[in-house]
Amino acid sequence: MAMIALKCPNIEVVVVDISKPRIAAWNSDELPIYEPGLDEVVKACREKNLFFSTDVEKHVAEADIVFVSVNTPTKTRGLGAGKAADLTYWESAARMIADVSKSDKIVVEKSTVPVKTAEAIEKILTHNNKGINFQILSNPEFLAEGTAIEDLAKPDRVLIGGRETPGGQKAVEALKAVYAHWVPEDRILTTNLWSAELSKLAANAFLAQRISSINAMSALCESTGADVSEVAYAVGKDSRIGPKFLNASVGFGGSCFQKDILNLVYICECNGLTEVAHYWKQVVQINDYQKTRFVKRVVSSMFNTVSGKKIAILGFAFKKDTGDTRETPAIDVCHGLLGDKALLSIYDPQVTEDQIKRDLAMNKFDWDHPLHLQPQSPTAFKQVSVVWDAYEATKDAHGVCIITEWDEFKKLDYQRIYDNMQKPAFIFDGRNVLNVEALRKIGFVVYSIGKPLDPWVKDLQVSI
Ligand code: UDX
Repeated sequence: MAMIALKCPNIEVVVVDISKPRIAAWNSDELPIYEPGLDEVVKACREKNLFFSTDVEKHVAEADIVFVSVNTPTKTRGLGAGKAADLTYWESAARMIADVSKSDKIVVEKSTVPVKTAEAIEKILTHNNKGINFQILSNPEFLAEGTAIEDLAKPDRVLIGGRETPGGQKAVEALKAVYAHWVPEDRILTTNLWSAELSKLAANAFLAQRISSINAMSALCESTGADVSEVAYAVGKDSRIGPKFLNASVGFGGSCFQKDILNLVYICECNGLTEVAHYWKQVVQINDYQKTRFVKRVVSSMFNTVSGKKIAILGFAFKKDTGDTRETPAIDVCHGLLGDKALLSIYDPQVTEDQIKRDLAMNKFDWDHPLHLQPQSPTAFKQVSVVWDAYEATKDAHGVCIITEWDEFKKLDYQRIYDNMQKPAFIFDGRNVLNVEALRKIGFVVYSIGKPLDPWVKDLQVSI
């Protein structure tokens, strides 16, 4: 919305939320999320044509276009638990819109939703419409965190789905005109509602599938002596495949991939497409396998026990340049190591101690609910300490795990780290960002995903 405000000075944008602290943060100097470049964009438009308010009903009533960007968590109970999207927040937003509206409106689905959600929303709106005309559009968002501003300023495409009726097409044109302020016309795609909804789930599933494909290969590389980076490079040179999203890792995280695939799986199952559901579920299963495999490598390398040993976790965010920890592989890796009674010392340049402790105490999928519905007093983990420096985290540690590819981890003084660690000193690079040869020269035992194994690791009889 800040980007729309920036690019369209003639449009007034009001971001509303029922959470007072959140809106206060958006109105302050300390924005509630870290995203490179966002500060500048918000500060350039705030109080000019970009406003943040808790007066939800007033601003919805006044708006011509309402973008709904509420959370759509994975259901934890009842029908479809563990897979289906929970549309509680969407439904209450739709009912509120119907309640307060006094003029015709375009309602835009910005949240990622299951296919056919628009139909349900349409029903809620039209059964409560008091003669008001509502048009529903699907306008999924494809930005990635860490590069959001760039992605929004120069999108590969903007997708707008609408009803194939005159009213629906008029609404599509109205939204198209907003984006046309800065996006070339040939990049604004228009489709029917269901195609737009499904395209978003499909795009995320395809991206995640590439990562699971290269991660599956990484296991085979370790068994055969191939190097996954070389394989990825050679494969990606094929112009039909392309080089992006082929970095082997400890596993993908983030708020979208797993959730959207599970959602896709559920939709397939509901439509009786068991094989299709099974196919996509495997992408998530390989991701879980990769995280477990990493933990097994750590524990087995360290004489099959990490009990009472200090292990440094460098990076907790789900990727670099963000403070976001939703579905980060760090959570599963830490749980795995804590299960083996390790003592963890965690450092991430952007994630706070509170957040890390809350994440480690939270049940799966709870993160996608508002803060007041999440566990309030996280269990204190005696085995976990959170520190503000990589050298502090690694001091006296037996092992170091790189979980997020922060640039600063490439530039650390590894000789100094080695000197201050217990010996043998282990490094497990879950992101393939370190120079393995240089580390081995210092004296580290190194494991790097999908790379030829250190003789130390190779000699271990471990089933992964
Ligand atoms: C993703 C989609 O890219 C975006 O289009 C959609 O709108 C939201 O979901 P995001 O979750 O912000 O964006 O991050 P992304 O860059 O896609 O990374 C997701 C995860 O995959 C991260 O944990 C990242 O580290 C991992 N990843 C990515 C890999 O492990 N290897 C890769 O080659 C690329």
